[in-house]
Amino acid sequence: MILKIIKFPNPVLRKKAKPVKKVTPEIVKLIDDMIETMHAAPGVGLAAPQVNRSIQVIVVDPGAGPLALVNPKILEKSGCQVFTEGCLCLPGVEAPVERASHVKVKALDRDGQAVTIETDGFLATILQHEIDHLAGIVFIDKVKNPALIKYVPRTQEKKEELL
Ligand code: NI
Repeated sequence: MILKIIKFPNPVLRKKAKPVKKVTPEIVKLIDDMIETMHAAPGVGLAAPQVNRSIQVIVVDPGAGPLALVNPKILEKSGCQVFTEGCLCLPGVEAPVERASHVKVKALDRDGQAVTIETDGFLATILQHEIDHLAGIVFIDKVKNPALIKYVPRTQEKKEELL
């Protein structure tokens, strides 16, 4: 089921998302709906607060297949990289964001099993962007120079950058 994506400045986007106590069938359903919603948008990442659920669930898909993470925590980060980011909650807005280039993240997967993911490049940026959503942070908060925040009408080429 495709879920409705809320838009900035909806206050849900500013709340701290609650940890998930257990990966119940209801959470699995939410994960599957979030993956469907992300693919339909289309986007490369989606956090539960973006679909009006203030809980710690994210899904990502940089093109290699979807991955769901429950209660994700960044254990380590290093390096530095800049990608131009967008967000499904701020349609048409894009800006360069500096983030760690390498992250190690622990979480529970769709089966409720503990997983650790170590990655770099664009997936590292996507994970940081989505985990920020769980803390009520949106990507424009991270832009060092507000003059670099641009409004760009959506085009085919830009769609894959939406997180
Ligand atoms: Ni986003």
